[in-house]
Amino acid sequence: MNPQPLPHDLPLQLPLPEGLVKHLLVLLFLIHILFVNFMLGGQSLAVILEIIGLRRKKYDRLAYEISSTVTVSKSLAVVLGVAPLLAINVAYTTYFYSSTVLIGFAWLMIIIMASAAFLLTYLHKYTWESWGGSQRALHLTVGAAAMVLFLAVAMVFITNINLMVLPAYWPRVAGFLSAVLLPSALLRYFHFILATLAISALFAAGWFGRKGYDLARLPDFTRTEVIALFLRIAFIVTLLQFVIGPSLLLSLPVHGHSLAVWLLLLTGATIAGVMAWIIYRELGRAPAVLGRSYLVMLTLLTFTALFMAYGRHYYRERAVNPHRQAMMAKTEAFMWDAKAAQTRARMGMTREVYKSSGEKEFKANCAACHAENTTIVGPPLTEVRGLYAGNPQNLIAWARAPQVKRGGAPMPSFNHLPEKVLQEIATWILEGK
Ligand code: HEC
Repeated sequence: MNPQPLPHDLPLQLPLPEGLVKHLLVLLFLIHILFVNFMLGGQSLAVILEIIGLRRKKYDRLAYEISSTVTVSKSLAVVLGVAPLLAINVAYTTYFYSSTVLIGFAWLMIIIMASAAFLLTYLHKYTWESWGGSQRALHLTVGAAAMVLFLAVAMVFITNINLMVLPAYWPRVAGFLSAVLLPSALLRYFHFILATLAISALFAAGWFGRKGYDLARLPDFTRTEVIALFLRIAFIVTLLQFVIGPSLLLSLPVHGHSLAVWLLLLTGATIAGVMAWIIYRELGRAPAVLGRSYLVMLTLLTFTALFMAYGRHYYRERAVNPHRQAMMAKTEAFMWDAKAAQTRARMGMTREVYKSSGEKEFKANCAACHAENTTIVGPPLTEVRGLYAGNPQNLIAWARAPQVKRGGAPMPSFNHLPEKVLQEIATWILEGK
């Protein structure tokens, strides 16, 4: 058994039944992550297409059109992120806070990185025309910087939610980088990035391929060309996912696995496979009917996401369960001790723990007048040690027959104490044991 840090639980009342909070977490998170996907995937596609557009002008227009959706997606992603963030704080307080604190610096950097990325996406969008020509490189740098910052923010988030389900690893974590290297963190990240690209490409196919979209904004493109381009991206990325996905599943520490987790994830993967097959078939179709199965694809994607999200949820539940059980046991023991202590206090029972009987006798006989550093009635022990260090016999002699030395109140005699007790007191005063 790994040494695990086991804080005792916080007996707080939840505003809603716990199960409901968790379902809300899973579902609200899906809505949030959809717009995160559009934002991150959109920015990445915009940058890649802008690079291609350096040689083939028409891709530059397409890149611009995508970039103008990113700022909107970004705002929605942020607003819709509040609810799942609050829900995870409430439903998994101990786990989420512990992992957050362990990567505290990187976590706080999210504020700076995300703010900078947001401003850069606006700059990228609004300087598209004015920074053309000789300033193209600068413009591309701005877009790429926003993309890299988005990617970094995603990495911090994923590292955190990976770390929170691995309490056994907490004692070993020293900062963000060590948490990135924990099992499954990087694979989770790649899995997420691929999903992001697939979902944004699918979104772009629908957005630019829809009837209401004014194709005059994309000179040199036909509707089917745009749809085919994005469907092809979605297809290739989804195929890659069939390598990363299973690797991720196998990399997840075993204590979180269960039949339910596997069934949910494999069902999700199967649906994704069907979706990929439909995209593939669609790509081979006559241009006139391209995009006809779009709604079917979206529906399959939605179900993939739902199954994956619940598979992930059950993995998390199971992974933190041993720790949660241990924490409950510890909380119960703690509450029991606390109650017993309260009862004893109410009955006036106190129990002091002494290091030695010398300490006990000193507290009983001398402490009323002698303290460590301050003069109460008699001189402080620091002074006494200065006078009697290495000489307990003289100290004992003094205690048996104190004299008036300092001219204040006299010290009473302790001649009535047995020799053994006085010796113990002297050892305690002079040697602290
Ligand atoms: C009621 C108060 C009181 C208690 C109880 C008391 N003392 Fe004192 N003690 C004094 C005072 C007052 C002095 C200073 C006497 C003086 O210098 O005139 C003193 C001085 C001393 C000194 C310094 C002697 C020196 O050479 O200057 C020692 C050692 C000492 N006490 C040990 C003890 C020990 C050991 C006990 C417990 C067994 C004890 N005292 C309990 C009041 C007390």
